Amino acid sequence: SAPSTLTGKDEVSRHRTLQDGVWVTFKGGVYDITEFVAMHPGGDKIMLAAGGAVEPFWALYAVHNQDHVLEILSEYKVSVY
Ligand code: HEM
Repeated sequence: SAPSTLTGKDEVSRHRTLQDGVWVTFKGGVYDITEFVAMHPGGDKIMLAAGGAVEPFWALYAVHNQDHVLEILSEYKVSVY
């Protein structure tokens, strides 16, 4: 799907717990990864990016620089910012 809703970064920042939902941004997209958190191969570290951008963390953990990681992320796209 191609979400067209514009979501502000302030709204993204309000989604950083499993209770409120876990949203992240990546290259202009907003992703609701709440359901993925428990499946993350890197465990709870994923919560460090909750409510904000994943790029700084993926720069440190280059394991994410693979097509299959982006395919996973794309399933959770809910908006753009
Ligand atoms: C591994 C996805 C955020 C740390 C992985 C892998 C996937 C993934 C698919 C396995 C890659 C492979 O081995 O081929 C994601 C997604 C994220 C996210 C979709 C956000 C939406 C983060 C963040 C951190 C992190 C924010 C750190 C702060 C790690 C680490 C591993 C890993 C350390 C390696 C685990 C291991 O092999 O022992 N992640 N990740 N991830 N991730 Fe993430």
